[in-house]
Amino acid sequence: MIRAYTTDPAIQPFLPAKETIAAAKRAGLTVGDYLDRYSAEPQVTAAAVQALLQIGALSNGVERVCEIGPGSGRYAEKIIEALRPSAYEIYETASDWLPYLRRLPHLVECPADGHTLSATPTESVDLVQAHKLFVYIPFVTTVGYLEEMARVVRPGGVVAFDIVTENCLDEQTTKTWVAENAAIYMLTPRAWTIELLERRGLDLLGSHFEPLSGALTELLVFRKR
Ligand SMILES: C[S@@+](CC[C@H](N)C(=O)[O-])C[C@H]1O[C@@H](n2cnc3c(N)ncnc32)[C@H](O)[C@@H]1O
Repeated sequence: MIRAYTTDPAIQPFLPAKETIAAAKRAGLTVGDYLDRYSAEPQVTAAAVQALLQIGALSNGVERVCEIGPGSGRYAEKIIEALRPSAYEIYETASDWLPYLRRLPHLVECPADGHTLSATPTESVDLVQAHKLFVYIPFVTTVGYLEEMARVVRPGGVVAFDIVTENCLDEQTTKTWVAENAAIYMLTPRAWTIELLERRGLDLLGSHFEPLSGALTELLVFRKR
């Protein structure tokens, strides 16, 4: 398959699907486990999903989930296993991953324009999430998606995403970034994000740090009033 390229800086390319799936197979790992090891450390996805479920007090009664940028679906498969939603909406810009994502039950493929959740009605989902996405895309695109997440979540529903906040930075991290010219990482201010979402009716429930190669991200979990 030929990968589609775009000049829109909002849309960041992901690892190529065919090669990544083949590499996982050669390593004798699931794609999710392979990506955990490749990008951070074993079990990092499972730990984050566990934290999200716990902080968000999510168990039964989750019917509709929406995920932005699911990639291989490593978070999706764990969320689906735990919550068994009747619809799992995705907005994924990497077309080569879509055939692989179609294995997920009750999948709803939404048209991904790289900026909005335009196919999702206002206050219609129980959980809207993005993982390892806002870490790489421009701040302005993240802000647009935060507004959209606040719009589509129903009252009582949960919004979850990870960002590189000031809490993720220490001197060793920035030294490594400078040494490796790690220009890929984007920062999102923590207090500003919490205040923005507070004005949109979302209360912060808690957070969880996740390792990412040469960095940390902070998973923030909110509930809509
Ligand atoms: C770093 S990957 C993370 C994938 C997955 N969430 C994970 O943690 O394994 C970022 C994902 O977001 C997708 N993506 C990039 N820019 C996007 C955008 N503007 N809107 C929606 N998805 C985007 C990429 O194609 C990729 O699947």
